[in-house]
Amino acid sequence: MILLRHTVSGTLRGARPARSLSTRASAILSSLDIPVGAAELPGVYDGQWYGSGDVLESVCPTTGEVLARVRSATPHELHEALGKSKDAYLHLRTVPAPKRGELLRQIREALSAKRDVLGALVSLEMGKIKTEGIGEVQEFVDICDYAVGLSRMMNGRVVASERPGHTILEVPNPIGVVGVLTAFNFPVAVYGWNFLLSVAAGNANVWKPSPSTPLCSIAVTKIIASVLEKNGLPGAVSTLITGGKDVGEAIVESRDIPLVSFTGSEAVGRVVGKTVQSRFGKSILELGGNNASIIMPDADMPLAVPAVFFGAIGTAGQRCTSTRRLYLHRAIAPQFLDALQKLYATISVGDPLVDGTLLGPLHTRAAVGIYDDAVQRLRQSGADILAGGKKYDHAALSQGNFVQPTISVPKTADPADKIWSTETFAPILNVGLFDELEQAIEWNNAVPQGLSSSLWTRDIRNVGKWIGPEGSDAGIVNVGTSGAEIGAAFGGNKSTGWGRESGGDAWKQYVRWSACTVNFSNAAPLAQGVDFST
Ligand code: UN1
Repeated sequence: MILLRHTVSGTLRGARPARSLSTRASAILSSLDIPVGAAELPGVYDGQWYGSGDVLESVCPTTGEVLARVRSATPHELHEALGKSKDAYLHLRTVPAPKRGELLRQIREALSAKRDVLGALVSLEMGKIKTEGIGEVQEFVDICDYAVGLSRMMNGRVVASERPGHTILEVPNPIGVVGVLTAFNFPVAVYGWNFLLSVAAGNANVWKPSPSTPLCSIAVTKIIASVLEKNGLPGAVSTLITGGKDVGEAIVESRDIPLVSFTGSEAVGRVVGKTVQSRFGKSILELGGNNASIIMPDADMPLAVPAVFFGAIGTAGQRCTSTRRLYLHRAIAPQFLDALQKLYATISVGDPLVDGTLLGPLHTRAAVGIYDDAVQRLRQSGADILAGGKKYDHAALSQGNFVQPTISVPKTADPADKIWSTETFAPILNVGLFDELEQAIEWNNAVPQGLSSSLWTRDIRNVGKWIGPEGSDAGIVNVGTSGAEIGAAFGGNKSTGWGRESGGDAWKQYVRWSACTVNFSNAAPLAQGVDFST
């Protein structure tokens, strides 16, 4: 239930009066040193806070309250901030990696001290429930630990040379300024995945967050900035430029940004990828996920049913790793669907900041429209809607973007049908029935996207097939669970894009590799026995 005062003041034009916020929002913002009475907040940081460009509005998806108005950069300011980032890189690359690790350790401590309130801000501004908001900040903290360790382990290699008295070294050096373009659904953690590895590697960073979650990025940047300043390091190691398409384009097109990490839609990712490639930059793309869970008859049902429930409804279906396709073996389909529908009926919907809420709002009004269109398409195609299918209409939810989690059984399981082949960023789960595991794996792989996937079985032979060459073609291949932890490389294949973030070998993308051959001898022979003597 929403028990909140809803106060919106000011307009987008003319003089800005001081603002008056709900007590709920004020308490969170002031705990994070974000001024609550200000008409507008500066949305650019490169050692100083400023911004006199366009205004972004942060709107609470639960209540519709305008939480803040944030000033983005003018084109001139954007240019200045990118210049500062380059200077910051020139400085940071001279700081030894373990010293950069010490900086990251301090960032970890500062962030961890604010974990719960920062998590609450994620819930307030993005709309995910409290435990998930806090979990997202915990993900940032965890990857701080990981990056601190990495700062002493980003090793190159010594390679045997075929020439006497020669040694070959493969040396990782910092790459430069890294552009990090993040999405609304993980407004804190995804910057952490990139920024922390990147700083361990010796790079400066320019963060362009989603235009609808500027407050999360301001709060995180304030915490990072305080640590940078305390250590006498340039603030532009973690430059923030809030803004829209123009800011994104400037980063993507800048020849001063050799690596761009982009999280967002397949459509925008296609443009980002091509643009960065056209200037021979490198990109990491984390685009659409259209993830399937496959349930075999021998699955542990008391574990599988709640896992699918979370996979499909968690974060109101707005995780890249949300479960959107459920393939059930025909033998257990009726009992599985019955148990799942019973769980759906228990969902507690409402203010994501209230304990016990499991379903918060969609992030924007536009997302509600996308949900409506998808449900309408399902109905028109003759799909059986087993649960949900519309917005919530109780008065208590009317100010927010609340939609009912939906289970549908489309008429066809043909993966080429748009119902199956497109990602809808909302809590809609489509169900298909199969007879053989091979059929389900084929459907799992037949869509354009390839982020995450999970198989529920207790038969080791099925597991072997699933994780091997004839198995799932997604970047994340789970058995008996869903989602991902920071220790493994995160990312997908096919139209999910390319590149990996977070754990595994992801750090290797944030450095430039040099193959260095050093001759310690008194002769200078050529490789491959080439004789060029005169
Ligand atoms: C994303 O949705 O972009 O496994 C990231 C998960 C989270 C990360 C998701 N740890 O869903």
